[in-house]
Amino acid sequence: LEPRNAEKLTTSLGAQNVHKQPFVIGVAGGAASGKTTVCDMIIQQLHDQRVVLVNQDSFYHNLTEEELARVHEYNFDHPDAFDTEKLLDSMENLRLDRAVDIPNYDFRSYKNNVFAARRVNPSDVIILEGILIFHDPRVRELMNMKIFVDTDADVRLARRIKRDTVEKGRDIGAVLDQYSKFVKPAFDDFILPTKKYADIIIPRGGDNHVAIDLIVQHIRTKLGQHELCKIYPNLYVIQSTFQI
Ligand code: ADP
Ligand code: C5P
Repeated sequence: LEPRNAEKLTTSLGAQNVHKQPFVIGVAGGAASGKTTVCDMIIQQLHDQRVVLVNQDSFYHNLTEEELARVHEYNFDHPDAFDTEKLLDSMENLRLDRAVDIPNYDFRSYKNNVFAARRVNPSDVIILEGILIFHDPRVRELMNMKIFVDTDADVRLARRIKRDTVEKGRDIGAVLDQYSKFVKPAFDDFILPTKKYADIIIPRGGDNHVAIDLIVQHIRTKLGQHELCKIYPNLYVIQSTFQI
């Protein structure tokens, strides 16, 4: 579409004030599948764009004293473990061009108010990452692109053991108990069924450089369309009416 013609079309459609929305990418997959690694690689390749990463972990509910006392019985892999309303509220504010404070979750104390919150400014690209980020349809609807990181269960378990014992200071027996009691069943019941919503499934996570290059190329193409919309704000109206 020639810029001149776009101008004519937008003028003829009237000066409607359409707000530019960020491009939202969802990245789901099992725990330790490589979601964060994939997101970091995408962000690195999109270095010239304003990109922010919002992690679903930031929206874990704080535990009550009772739950803390019996933390080994708490299911952190169930959809109810997350404050999805708060996540939706933060996303709504970012879409309205307002900065938000996102909690920094502490896996050691199981609390979201130990560390200072992170100030997140509105950006061109928002990456939403988490095990159950495709679970709630209202969150899915915010996404322009959905990626599922598909890594074998044994690889995920091996990485989890290493990460939870080394980084989170947990006992290996407790890690294995949590895995068989909660992590594996929740993967089968809640995470795997959301794979069907993905536009792209990446086998082998961060090792799959070809998939990541293709995804970055696609995001750049889409961002180019967003740039056009910056010049011609009413292009959103045109896009919904005509195929460009
Ligand atoms: P997730 O965000 O899905 O939990 P991460 O990207 O944080 O997964 O990876 C989990 C762990 O596995 C981390 O310790 C990370 O360093 C390691 N890891 C991730 N991808 C690879 C890979 N391709 N090869 C080796 N280790 C990896
Ligand atoms: O970063 P990742 O996607 O792996 O984080 C999700 C995992 O973190 C879940 O499998 C959950 O069991 C685990 N978790 C935990 N302790 C917490 C909160 C989450 O082990 N306090």
